[in-house]
Amino acid sequence: MKSTAIAYANQALVKYWGKTNSLLKLPYNSSISVCLDKLTTKTTIEFSKENNQDEVFINNEKVYGRKYERVVNHLNLIRKKANNKLKAKVFSINSFPASTGLASSASGFAALTVAARSALGLDLGEKEMSILSRQGSGSSCRSITGGFSKWTASDKSEESYAICLAKPEEIDMRTIIALVKSQEKKVGSTKGMEITVNTCPFFKSRINYVGKAIKEMEQAIKNKDACRIGELAEKETLNMHACMLTSYPPLIYWTSETIKVIKNVLELREQGVKAYFSIDAGSNVFINTTKEFEKTVEEKIKNISGVVGVIKCKVGGKPFTTKEHLF
Ligand code: PMV
Repeated sequence: MKSTAIAYANQALVKYWGKTNSLLKLPYNSSISVCLDKLTTKTTIEFSKENNQDEVFINNEKVYGRKYERVVNHLNLIRKKANNKLKAKVFSINSFPASTGLASSASGFAALTVAARSALGLDLGEKEMSILSRQGSGSSCRSITGGFSKWTASDKSEESYAICLAKPEEIDMRTIIALVKSQEKKVGSTKGMEITVNTCPFFKSRINYVGKAIKEMEQAIKNKDACRIGELAEKETLNMHACMLTSYPPLIYWTSETIKVIKNVLELREQGVKAYFSIDAGSNVFINTTKEFEKTVEEKIKNISGVVGVIKCKVGGKPFTTKEHLF
């Protein structure tokens, strides 16, 4: 009963920030994202009667505390569906730094859900998988469907899942990730969302505005217009971060390097380069662009002091299983 899955992390284009139900992870608003082909989590899981308890390793380290509990709670959900009580060993590796705003929980829970389904031989369709994964980490429901995906908000668990709007081969958007000198973020998304919902004076107006942002983004995806998608994601980034900044205590995920990258992207635009920044809950910056401008953006960004690396991504697909196990 061993299985391995690989899933892609996603960049939010219209962002999810706020839950109406924190246990079921139901969002205030619908959201749209794009999976990134270079940001992956590979997870091997084995259920066995030899195991006395669940054991979880992330990036070669055994995990305890809250991270461990989150994984075990998710395994319990899946075990319940499969009517199985066996304990599991989970080994998970990210291809990118965790807790820096690069959505490791999205690829992490999507890979865990797919690997566990396969190991337990559960017969679940994409919709059920998206609902299940969502309960591990909200944004992971969009990594189950891959490509450009939309997660619909609802107060009913069975109605809040993602669907794919466009597959990777349909829109050739390129994303350059500027990794900036930073530490692991101090406030995770769960706590951060709670603070914003409870204290940000602009949260209601954000929720009113997001409906329009979703419609515009859906249209841009329908038109396969990578530049328009980037432009809208940039506006949406500023809207979400305005709410984060005006929460109390304030949520300031940006560092001085983040601002430097933003300024450089704006400078590129003045020179006619179609490149747009986007930031989730972290300090690293996604720069959305097209094949034509990818090289110019990369050259400019990698020479900024404080940028410690760049990752060049195309659109990523759905999770898949592989026979190449991690243990
Ligand atoms: O699903 P979580 O708890 O990792 O939260 C994700 C929050 C953002 O990345 C900032 C936005 C989003 O829609 O993914």
